[in-house]
Formats: sequence, structure tokens, C-alpha cells
Amino acid sequence: MNKSLRKAVIAGNWKMNKTPAEAAALINEMKPLVADADCDVVLCVPYVDIPAALEAAKGSNIKIGAENVHFKASGAYTGEISAEMLTALGVEYVVIGHSERRQYFGETDQTVNLRSLAALNAGLKAIICVGETLEQRELGYTETLLKYQTKMALTNVTAEQLKNVIIAYEPVWAIGTGVTATDDQANEGNKYVRDAIAEAYGADVAETVTVQYGGSMNAKNAEGLLSKEHVDGGLIGGASLKAADFSVIVKAASK
Ligand code: PGA
Repeated sequence: MNKSLRKAVIAGNWKMNKTPAEAAALINEMKPLVADADCDVVLCVPYVDIPAALEAAKGSNIKIGAENVHFKASGAYTGEISAEMLTALGVEYVVIGHSERRQYFGETDQTVNLRSLAALNAGLKAIICVGETLEQRELGYTETLLKYQTKMALTNVTAEQLKNVIIAYEPVWAIGTGVTATDDQANEGNKYVRDAIAEAYGADVAETVTVQYGGSMNAKNAEGLLSKEHVDGGLIGGASLKAADFSVIVKAASK
């Protein structure tokens, strides 16, 4: 982290977990534990949990996000949710292009870009996920792929809009597997992302963008990962479902 240049952000990604009542209970448990955080604290929750989560988080430093957003404003897109629907509720953040969306739901670099533009145009903060598979890493494509995914996601995003973008480097092989990237691997991946931003927007701009690491970040390994120059926070899956573990990560980012 380099807090003099960019904001540290710890974001939970609850995935398909928690009912509205369970969401409220977990947030109420977390609130006192993260109240003195010296970083931004975000919880991205299932759509149906959003009203309960916003209500529970009211008056606290916890911000609420969604886990996806559609790129059209309205229309015949059964099952989808628009950016305006999210902002109307009071949602501030949205995760876009998570590897599970890419893997199981046909998300492509192009749809990630369209969703990002829709989110940013609506005033949402976008947490855009990029990351290589184990096969791509072993073939030596990590840098090329991360730069490509980053630039594709940011196509037509203005430098002004970039202020509302967080990129999460999430190696696919580390997500939900318990296998974390080493501190140096995380830093290197995050640096490739920053280099791609520098190539597109200039080095000065790139230095100001928050780049998170995600993939089995937990209460034990967070401090080491967050000590690295280019790791400006985390996107946390499993450990964001446990108040105590999540708060340890928030504390590590608050140092
Ligand atoms: P994990 O998930 O922390 O459970 O590995 C991270 C993510 O998918 O964002």
C-alpha cells in the first residue's frame, strides 16, 4: 500500500451467500469491529440483500455494493439489474467481471467493459476483476493477459471516470481454493495492472488508482500481502463472511 498516493479499500464479496436477515445480522456484528478503520470498507452483497444491508450499515463507515450490473438502462433483459436500479437504492459500489461470472455466466472482456461503462456513467464505483488461470500462468501469459483484460475493461473510460475505478487482481487459481498468491506474486500481478493503466492513461494517473488483490486473502496472510507497494487493498470472498476475520483484514489495511 502507498496511502500517500491512493486509497486503501477492503471490499467483501459475499457471492451467493446470506439471506437478508443474515446479512443484517452479519453487518451489525461487523460495525463495531471496523468502526475505526483507516481504509474504505465495502461489502458487496447479493441483490436481494441490498435493502437490508443498507439499512444495517446506515450511520456506519461500511459502504454497500452489488456483485454485478447490466449494461443496458432498461428493457427486455430478464433477470438483470440496471445501474439506475442500484443507485436508486443507495448502492455505491459494484463488482464487475468476477472470474466466476466469466467462467460460469459467459462474461467476456467486452461485456465487462460495457458493464463498467454503465456503472461509471451512473455514478457507481466499479470494482473490476482481472486475473489469469493456472494454465495461463504456467504458459507464461500472466503479464500479457492482465494488461489485456485491464485495457479491455477500461476501453472508453475517461481519466475522470477512472477516479471511480478499482481494479482487483484475482488470480483464478487462488479464488476460493485456500491457495493464496505469495506476497511477491500479488505485488507483481498488481504492478502489471498498474503498468497497463500507465500505458493507457500515463504513469501519474496510474499511481493514483487503487489496485486490490483477491484470492484467499484472510486474517493470517492479509498483513503480508498489504505490505506490498502495489497491493492497495483486498477483495475478500470467504473471509468476508466472518466478522472477526474480516475485521482483522480491515485492521491490517488500516496500518
Ligand atoms: P476468496 O474469494 O477470498 O474466497 O478466495 C475472493 C473473490 O472471489 O473475490
